[in-house]
Amino acid sequence: MNTIASSRAIALLSASLCCAAWGCGGPTQSGAGNCPRDAALRSLVGGDASVQIIGATATPEQLNNPMYASTLACEFNSITPENDMKWETIEPQRGVFHFDRADQIVAFAQSHQMAVRGHTLVWHEQLPDWVASVPAAAFRQMFIDHIYNEVFYFRGRVARWDVVNEAIADDGNGLRQTIFRDRLGPDYIALAFITANAADPAAELYINDYGAEGAGDKANELFRTVEALVHAGVPIHGVGLQMHIDTQYGVPWNYFEPVVGTRSPPEIAANIARFRALGLHVQITEMDVSIANLLGIDFTRFELQRAVYHDVVAVCVQNRSCTGITVWGLNDSASWLNSQLLIPQNALLFDDMFAPKPAYFGVQAALAGRP
Ligand code: XIL
Repeated sequence: MNTIASSRAIALLSASLCCAAWGCGGPTQSGAGNCPRDAALRSLVGGDASVQIIGATATPEQLNNPMYASTLACEFNSITPENDMKWETIEPQRGVFHFDRADQIVAFAQSHQMAVRGHTLVWHEQLPDWVASVPAAAFRQMFIDHIYNEVFYFRGRVARWDVVNEAIADDGNGLRQTIFRDRLGPDYIALAFITANAADPAAELYINDYGAEGAGDKANELFRTVEALVHAGVPIHGVGLQMHIDTQYGVPWNYFEPVVGTRSPPEIAANIARFRALGLHVQITEMDVSIANLLGIDFTRFELQRAVYHDVVAVCVQNRSCTGITVWGLNDSASWLNSQLLIPQNALLFDDMFAPKPAYFGVQAALAGRP
């Protein structure tokens, strides 16, 4: 069975199991057939709303899980492949491209009227070893070829790309030291955007980072970097704020990310506003809210998590240039954060039975403009 046919089969299967699990005849506002909730998140975005995109991640294996697939298609109108558009998966050997896994995700999205956020073209992690052994004289062309081939292959099917991921140094002092910066100089970022734009002029192109969501040296350096790109006429359309946070608006305590800057809702709003002044969109691209470091009974912990999800999403809703929110996983045990330590982070919107948590209702209320 080819990939498109097999993902259609997944779609049909998931729609019928959705029916079996929740009964038929419910509202049908999403691409999945019958869905369990009237006010599905995707029914609250788009149209006149400023937020157009409500997304979540997926892998091909997760799409084979009928509950994952139906929840994704019922509630969300965008998918970010969690790993399958990264360099090590797409081009594991130089010049050898493997699009099959990403294709399964794109086909699922298309058959459920969902957009795809391409993640990510240039990142110093999940990068195959061969990249480091490319001779200096060939590096630039190799870099262009990777970006061009990936974007061109998905042209018209991937609406927006995280072109460059995590390029800013954590101390906010210039760009992160990566192989790309070392071999190509700081202009590698502009080159990446120009190449992606040439491959698909209709795609929205983003720079994406963590720890730059609100205030602080790293956020300021991201802003300066983006401002310089805009002033130089580089085709950049938006800024992705990852938003891996905890209930203190810090970073999850066991996440291997240094604590850089602060990200209270007013600080996030101010950051979005300065990017808007440059004419750029902002999207929250990888949101999760860890409660691993939060003591107390689950009721209280989940209520606090609901408040944080609500308040961050409300900032996006209230700022017209914030056009999208993506969560980094669907059900709690699927979160990448759990692999950092063996303590459950419970960072996402659904529990492991795919029942919506208070956090889900926080996002729903914020999208609807409610407290
Ligand atoms: C993570 C994935 O979720 C994991 O499955 C993988 O092992 C490592 O990468 N910032 C990013 C994402 O931009 O690509 C990362 O995704 C999470 C942090």
